[in-house]
Amino acid sequence: MKEIKLETSVRVYTKTEWTEQQTLLMSAAMAAAQKAYAPYSRFQVGAAVLLGNGEIVTGSNQENAAYPSGLCAERVALFYAGATYLDIPVKAMSVTALSAGKQVALAAPCGGCRQVILESEMRAGDKIQILLGGAEEIYVMEGASSLLPVSFDASVLPE
Ligand code: THU
Repeated sequence: MKEIKLETSVRVYTKTEWTEQQTLLMSAAMAAAQKAYAPYSRFQVGAAVLLGNGEIVTGSNQENAAYPSGLCAERVALFYAGATYLDIPVKAMSVTALSAGKQVALAAPCGGCRQVILESEMRAGDKIQILLGGAEEIYVMEGASSLLPVSFDASVLPE
């Protein structure tokens, strides 16, 4: 038996330390969260995606009375980016959320969204910077492996 220790590095910035770009990405995610369609959970999530051409596209969670038919904010944003800007890589992504109208301390993407962030990264050919925001702090991570170690990806699929 051998043990492998996996490390995740997260840089935590308080609001006063945010760069201009971090502030821009977080306010875009917040604006998106406010447009969420979340009448069932009252948990509104917003995601903003920074593309290689400098454009920012956003998404919010879209719920459905048939619950599994809804989609998370991160996937709405990333799928929109992938479908609209075919060959433009995703550089960074920010996420924030409101629970019953109040911003949460930290918006952590669900497992399915982590997998989709990983795929976007493979598509981009470079790490995506991930900003997870709350009211006071953002967690900044370099690449999907910070969120999803020991991951499944296309490398194991047959050619
Ligand atoms: N949700 C997201 O939009 N992103 C996540 O990463 C976690 C969960 C949404 C799905 C559902 O509309 C609501 O939050 C409550 O789970």
